[in-house]
Amino acid sequence: MKRILSGIQPTGSINIGTYLGSVKNFVKLQDQMPDYEFFIFIADLHAITVHKDKQFLRTKIKELAALYVACGLDPEKVNLFIQSEVPAHSQMAYLLQCNSYIGELERMTQYKDKSRKQETGVTVGLFTYPTLMAGDILLYDPEYVPVGKDQKQHLELARDIATRVNNKYNDIFTVPKPLIAEVGAKINSLSDPTSKMSKSDDNEKSRINLLDPENIIKKRIKSAITDSLGNVKYDPENRPGISNLMTIYHVITNIPFESIESKYEGLGYKEFKEDLGEIIYQELKPIQERYAELINSKELDDILDKGRDRANQVAYKKIMKLNDRIGLGRKRRK
Ligand code: TYM
Repeated sequence: MKRILSGIQPTGSINIGTYLGSVKNFVKLQDQMPDYEFFIFIADLHAITVHKDKQFLRTKIKELAALYVACGLDPEKVNLFIQSEVPAHSQMAYLLQCNSYIGELERMTQYKDKSRKQETGVTVGLFTYPTLMAGDILLYDPEYVPVGKDQKQHLELARDIATRVNNKYNDIFTVPKPLIAEVGAKINSLSDPTSKMSKSDDNEKSRINLLDPENIIKKRIKSAITDSLGNVKYDPENRPGISNLMTIYHVITNIPFESIESKYEGLGYKEFKEDLGEIIYQELKPIQERYAELINSKELDDILDKGRDRANQVAYKKIMKLNDRIGLGRKRRK
């Protein structure tokens, strides 16, 4: 069976950028592509490249798991699991590190940005992170990997590594293709619309988290940076603020940009922002209600157990096969 795989880091609370750029897409794909087996996971190993408090990490892992289901991922259609509960991920990362070059990892823009910001105490894990991500993917031979734009470079690296290992060890991996949405693949910050909305931005006003209450959602939209022109027009090059808000509007409602423009013709940002606040609130309300039912439920643990078992089955087989091709351990007895 063909497969689709993707993951999210539990580094902080999930915001509408991650939701619109990835989770909402996963939900669409699970329904549109019933012939594929889905693996969606919580990338907790990725979250510790920078130190995290133990309790914080545990809370965020569980929160993300509950949010995946609350957003509509169907455990009957998707194997949902926690990365660290499948040891093959760490094993594969090492094997791939031995097939990657320092130069190619140094070129990763996310590493360059993050290490520049951190300056001291940059961990080796932050540097080798793309090989862990490549391993996450290649363990499962997915045909497609749905991600937002910021992960494109990491995915290209995963493809390069897969091709290299395939040449050395006789076609062991499927070379995965990225699946990047045409719009919504980059939702920008509400306080700086030229940069990505991010979990790790120090400015809370830059984002709306999925569990934010109604008053915060509406306040954040009201204070979102736009421009002084005052008319609702989609022009991402020259007017990133209003265009970003229109993208959020469009991805949630499916209303085309031209129709949004005509709807608010002659009206200012105030009406548009009031409506957008309400649209986001209405989108998040059922998610928050379902989340509250799930967060401390046995149901959630059962879903994660089932996903872990299936993921382990597939991933263990792949690691054993690669070990064998490389010549590690003893020759496998048939
Ligand atoms: P992460 O946790 O930063 O983001 C999860 C997914 O959400 C997308 N995304 C966005 N899309 C649009 N606008 C935004 N503002 C926005 N912010 C985040 C990301 O592109 C991503 O698709 N390394 C990955 C997680 C990962 C992974 C994998 C993904 C680990 N292993 C294997 C795919 C396959 C990460 O840190 O994503």
